[in-house]
Amino acid sequence: MNMALRNHARTLATSALKQHLSKGTISVLSARSSSWWSHVEMGPPDAILGVTEAFKKDTNPNKMNLGVGAYRDDDGKPYVLPSVRKAEDIVRSKNLDKEYLGITGLPEFHKASATLAFGENHEVLQSKRNITVQGISGTGSLRIGANFLSKFYAGPKDVWQPTPTWGNHVPITKHAGMEVKNYRYYDPKTCGFDAAGAFEDISKIPEKSIILLHACAHNPTGVDPKPEQWKEMSKIIKSRNLFVFFDMAYQGFASGDIDKDAAAVRMFVEDGHNIALSQSYAKNMGLYGERVGGFTIVCESEEEAKRVESQLKIIIRPMYSNPPISGPRIASTILNTPELRSQWLTEVKGMADRIISMREQLVANLKKEGSTRNWQHIIDQIGMFCFTGLTPDQVAKITKDFSVYLTKDGRISVAGISSKNNAYLAHAIHEVTK
Ligand SMILES: Cc1ncc(COP(=O)(O)O)c(C=O)c1O
Repeated sequence: MNMALRNHARTLATSALKQHLSKGTISVLSARSSSWWSHVEMGPPDAILGVTEAFKKDTNPNKMNLGVGAYRDDDGKPYVLPSVRKAEDIVRSKNLDKEYLGITGLPEFHKASATLAFGENHEVLQSKRNITVQGISGTGSLRIGANFLSKFYAGPKDVWQPTPTWGNHVPITKHAGMEVKNYRYYDPKTCGFDAAGAFEDISKIPEKSIILLHACAHNPTGVDPKPEQWKEMSKIIKSRNLFVFFDMAYQGFASGDIDKDAAAVRMFVEDGHNIALSQSYAKNMGLYGERVGGFTIVCESEEEAKRVESQLKIIIRPMYSNPPISGPRIASTILNTPELRSQWLTEVKGMADRIISMREQLVANLKKEGSTRNWQHIIDQIGMFCFTGLTPDQVAKITKDFSVYLTKDGRISVAGISSKNNAYLAHAIHEVTK
């Protein structure tokens, strides 16, 4: 800007200021500028999103993002299931309207979702003693459950959660006005399930408390109890008369078999627990951004289920009025169309198998690198995540030296590994752990 222009601009600004002063608007302006939010402190960034941010800035061509919890194909690309594409075509061909759903969501989705969880013709479904509502994916379904328990649960409002648990379980519980308590779950010495610790802690939980269980593919550890350990937990939980809230975010995605992954939920119902259950279709159908989920309470009778439903509606209505329509149309089309359902089952198994094979290859590659450590837990753990056992210092080093990004607790998303970078990761892990 030349001198003359600058002087002209200054003159204009001064005359505008004079005008404002003469009209008295300046006092309004200064009143407006005092902030309502000066006391609001900067919050910490989300631990996982922070990893992705750092990854994006890294220019190393070999960089790996193992922080994010979403499936990637063997080229490291997001994957839309072909069965989902087909279901979208079917839905589109029907030229449906986009009117509001009811407060509890899409009716054909409710039955399909509950059937997926409990199995075809299950007694709970036949006697209609379940109430299943559509939720906004797993998180929203957990939130409906937490709010319902907070309002109506008659026992102690402490929700007992495994150590560690999925990071969001804690604020979901607290935002609903309940307290979080913990029971032992993961044993860092074995990188496996601390059965003795869990059984001991659970057997001391005050009677009639609420216990949260991960149905399969425990996040963040990838460590699940064995069937006989689930049986023992069911027995102890029964003896303490605890209310069980299952979080099932990975049905089918863990083992590749929807029935096997639902075995714990079904065993508990068989053992007479009237559970609450949250379901997510983010991972097993790859419907992450569609936000499809279900929340179920198994009641004593159909009549009780009706009363519970009426109160769930009262809880949901002021939260978001009614849930989105597109996702559950896709999910229920898949679940209710036999050919599409069997195609989907093959695709889920394909995702689970790729993850399992990445685990096996990683351990084989670590051996090739000459690592003498026992990495068997990488194979024994299941689902999207693996608790590697890397210490925070080793995590910092692998990120700095090899551009491998993961959360500080040593958790990696196995879905982020491909056959192309598996050996690179093994080399990096060996270098920081030898
Ligand atoms: C244990 C667990 N519960 C619930 C969820 C819910 O996810 P979403 O809200 O995307 O369905 C997740 C996702 O990572 C999870 O790992």
